[in-house]
Amino acid sequence: DSGAHVPALVVGTGYGGSVAALRLARAGVDVHMIEMGMAWDTPGPDGKIFANTTSPDARSYWLRTKTKQPLSNFLGFPLDKDVPRYTGILDAEEMGGIVVYQGRGVGGGSLVNGGMAVTPKRENFGAILPSVDAAEMYATYYPRANAGLGVGTVDPAWFESAECYQFARVGRKHAQRSGFPFVFVPDVYDWDYMKQEAAGTVPKSALAGEILYGNNYGKKSLQKTYLAQAAATGKVSISPLHKVTSVAPAPGGGYTVVIEQIDTTGTTTATKTVTADKVFFAAGSVGTSKLLVKLKATGALPALNGEVGKGWGDNGNVMCGRANHLWDPTGKVQASIPCGGIDNWAAGGAFAEVAPLPTGIETYASFYLSITNTPHRAEFSWNAQAGRADLNWQTAWKQTSIDMAKTIFDKINAKEGTIYRTDLFGTYKIWGDHLTYHPLGGAVLDKATDNYGRLHGYSGLYVIDGSLIPGNTSVNPFVTITALAERNIEKIIATDL
Ligand code: FDA
Repeated sequence: DSGAHVPALVVGTGYGGSVAALRLARAGVDVHMIEMGMAWDTPGPDGKIFANTTSPDARSYWLRTKTKQPLSNFLGFPLDKDVPRYTGILDAEEMGGIVVYQGRGVGGGSLVNGGMAVTPKRENFGAILPSVDAAEMYATYYPRANAGLGVGTVDPAWFESAECYQFARVGRKHAQRSGFPFVFVPDVYDWDYMKQEAAGTVPKSALAGEILYGNNYGKKSLQKTYLAQAAATGKVSISPLHKVTSVAPAPGGGYTVVIEQIDTTGTTTATKTVTADKVFFAAGSVGTSKLLVKLKATGALPALNGEVGKGWGDNGNVMCGRANHLWDPTGKVQASIPCGGIDNWAAGGAFAEVAPLPTGIETYASFYLSITNTPHRAEFSWNAQAGRADLNWQTAWKQTSIDMAKTIFDKINAKEGTIYRTDLFGTYKIWGDHLTYHPLGGAVLDKATDNYGRLHGYSGLYVIDGSLIPGNTSVNPFVTITALAERNIEKIIATDL
C-alpha cells in the first residue's frame, strides 16, 4: 500500500529476483517483490492457466493486438493472428532493430522459456564474467543454482526409443556425420513426467506442444522452485500487475519507490509510493537497463556511473531450419523441450540447440537455435524527447552470428545433400536474425556495479539479474544468472545487512 515501508524491495520476479527474495527471507529480512506481469495462478475459461503454442489467445502476448510468433511463417503462410490486448505472458519487445522476447509474470522468463539449464564449460567462463572467481563458481554457486532450479537430464536409454525425440536423434546423426560433438542439454522439465506423458498416463504438456505461452504441467518454473521456497518462509510477499517507475533517495534515508498498478489492459489504475531500505533491481536485462538509464538521466539517481546502459548483447541468438530428405523424417510428435545441442564453440563460435518444430505434422525439417560468440554490444540511452530508453542495436551485426552458425549448418548441408528452409521467417528468408531470447547486460558487473552487484553511487541499491552479464554466456543463460545471483546475495547478506 502507498506509504508503506519495506526493508527490502525486489523489482521483478525472474531468476535474479527469486534468488534474492529466498536468500534474504531465509536471513530474516522481510521482502516485497513487485512484478509488472500477472500472477499466473488462476485457470482461464478453458480450465487451463496457460495457452497452447498452437492456439495463441489473449493470455499469450504482453499488450499486443496481434501475435508476434518467433517462427512467423510456415510453407509460405504467415502465422500471426489477432488477439485481444491483454497483459499476457510473452513480451515481444521491439527495441529498434531487434525483437527481444521476455516472460511477463510471477516467475519472469521461467514461465515461457524452454527450461534448458546449461552450465557453461569452465574454459569459457573467463570470457563470460572476467572479474568473478571461476573456482568458487564451479565449486559452490553453479551446483547451488542447479540444485535450486531442479535441473536434470533426459534418461539416455529412454531418449533412444522415445518417439517424441526422433527430431533430436536425427539432429544428432547429422551432427556426428559431419564430425560435430552432440551433447545432451540438461533441463528443468520433469523428465519422469515426460515419460508418463509419452505413456499416456498423465495430461500432456511438452508432448502437447506447450512452451512459449507457458507449460500447464511438467516444467519446474520458478513458481515451483525458488518462489515456492521463498513463500514458505512467510517473509516474502508479491504484488503482481505493479510496475516500478522510479527509485530515488528518500529524505530520511533509504529509497522512495514509485509503483504504478495496472489492469489487464495495461492501463494505470493507481500510483503508489513506498519506501525501502534496500532495492534490488531484478527486472531483467532490458527492464533493469531501461529503468536505470531513465533514473540517471532524469535526475532521480544522477550519481549512477557512465557504465549504466552499456554492454548489452543478444547472446548471439540466430535461428534456422534445414529441409531433410523424405527418407529422414523428424517425427509428427515432438517434445517441445529440447534435450541436445551441437557444440562448435571453440572452432566456429557456435553452440546450436537442436530444437523441436512441434506442429503436430511431419515437417521433414530440422530446426536450430544457435548461440554464437558475437563481439557486438549495444547501449541503452535516454531519449528525452520520446520519454523512453532507446537501444542502438544494428541489424547488420547479426551477420557475424549467421557466419558462425554457418560453420555448423553449411557443413551438415553439404554432407547430407540438404538445403536450408526458406519459409520459416518470411518468404525466401533462411535466418531468424531479427530476435533474441537471451538479452544480457546493460548494468555490467564490476563496471556499473561493484564486483557483487552493488550499484556505484548509491549504497543499498543492487542489480541482481541478467543485466550484470556482459552480453554473452556461450550457452543458454539462466543457470549463470541464477548462480551469479547466489554468489552475490551471499556476499551482500554477509556484509550489508
Ligand atoms: P527475467 O526476465 O526472468 O525477469 C524479470 C522480471 O521483471 C519479469 O517478470 C518482468 O515482467 C519484470 N519486470 C520488468 N520490468 C519491471 C518493472 N519496471 N517493474 C516490475 N516488474 C518488472 N534461458 C535458458 O537458460 N534456457 C532456455 O531454454 C531459455 N529459453 C528461452 C525461451 C524464451 C522464449 C525466452 C523469452 C527466454 C528464454 N531463455 C532461456 C532466457 C531466460 O528466460 C532469461 O535469460 C531469464 O529469464 C532472465 O532472467 P532475469 O532474472 O534476468 O530476468
